[in-house]
Amino acid sequence: MKIAMIGTGYVGLVSGVCFSDFGHEVVCVDKDPRKIEMLEAGQVPIYEPGLDTLMHKNVEAGRLSFTLDLASAIDGADAVFIAVGTPTRRGDGHADLTYVMAAAEEIARTAKDYVVIVTKSTVPVGTNRKVKEVVAAANPALDFDVASNPEFLREGAAIDDFMKPDRVVVGVETERAAKVMEDIYRPLYLRDFPIVTTDLESAEMIKYAANAFLATKITFINEIAALCEKVGADVKSVSKGMGMDGRIGNKFLHAGPGYGGSCFPKDTKALARIGQEHATPISIVETVIKVNEEVKRRMIDKLLDLCGGSFNGKTVAVLGVTFKPNTDDMRDAPSLTIVPALVGGGAVVRACDPQGRREGEHLLPGVDWIEDPYAAARGADLLVILTEWNEFRALDLPRLASSMTTPHMADLRNIYDRDDAKNAGFTAYDGIGRGGAGTSAA
Ligand code: UDX
Repeated sequence: MKIAMIGTGYVGLVSGVCFSDFGHEVVCVDKDPRKIEMLEAGQVPIYEPGLDTLMHKNVEAGRLSFTLDLASAIDGADAVFIAVGTPTRRGDGHADLTYVMAAAEEIARTAKDYVVIVTKSTVPVGTNRKVKEVVAAANPALDFDVASNPEFLREGAAIDDFMKPDRVVVGVETERAAKVMEDIYRPLYLRDFPIVTTDLESAEMIKYAANAFLATKITFINEIAALCEKVGADVKSVSKGMGMDGRIGNKFLHAGPGYGGSCFPKDTKALARIGQEHATPISIVETVIKVNEEVKRRMIDKLLDLCGGSFNGKTVAVLGVTFKPNTDDMRDAPSLTIVPALVGGGAVVRACDPQGRREGEHLLPGVDWIEDPYAAARGADLLVILTEWNEFRALDLPRLASSMTTPHMADLRNIYDRDDAKNAGFTAYDGIGRGGAGTSAA
């Protein structure tokens, strides 16, 4: 199969590289000459474990290439994937479809033969139908179908998620398009990974409903965590006990400082908007959005308590600024709410993150960047664990505590226990929802 992938952002690049590894001929297109130059020089513009190796392998095999020229990429392609950004539009919370529609028009103007136009970007229900209209209007003679093929890739685990998905969702209207999509995903199909083939609207809805459900699950446990603190329960035990019920499942039940990233905040807002527009509000999702903001603010209160009521003049070491480990992405990261509150309150903030510094330097002004967690903690009044990078999971706690001026720890990912912290010399420890055995002042 020949595939054109429009957009070499996170989703487009990972999908393009993985499709080429399936043995397809893939041309990735982008409008940004710097990105294409980098990719042609063998450099990966984003941090994603394993992506560079897989990219080099397939470029060398002659199956993967990059270009600025959409027309040459589309020439002879069986399918063109639209994987451009759909950011939240300022003001109304809608997904901004400018880039998707511009790509659709450009495909219409350049395509010659039958092609399946596949939307991979997360788009509101009804968008694929609009794409169809736009293409038909721009080039009435073109023989084409549209397909919806949402992605479910987690940053930091994207290659594995692509190669071993729980499911692939394909929304189509014709047998012909279904066949093309089946051929594209055949390597997975042969390995028994289920493909859910459905209509366009259902495929679009599956993506929003899945992400909103996961965001709800996290927010649910975050609220339970707050209550655990009040009633003396430990949310880690509560999650474990709940998660062993097969109907609930143990994934996405880790209490933390609030969800972030490029998908959950954007997709929950977009789904809430779609509901309102159709006079069918998804109240639960509207509440999740609100509660997630409260969760982030609650973290600031925790830190204030550990600093004796004021940040002024305190030195705070923050371990982790990215929205989760194994990514350099800081979109909607809890650090963007928490760190400015520390800086604004007069604290000296030292941040340490294996990948977050490059973005963090722009997004978090007034922060000192330190490579090593031990150096960051030296002389500090509070150690905050904000992202659970593996590098921070087995720190030498006695070494940290003995080097701090005030050995207090805010473990916002629950990777340590109160007793361990206490035995290591921390005089105060607070986690999330650890009112029982796990936490409170040591
Ligand atoms: C998510 C979805 O998992 C993926 O299917 C979708 O298509 C894109 O969005 P991603 O944003 O990469 O992927 O991150 P994910 O691992 O899902 O985590 C999202 C956020 O939830 C992070 O801020 C993470 O820290 C938080 N989280 C996750 C929790 O707080 N607790 C959990 O138990 C799980």
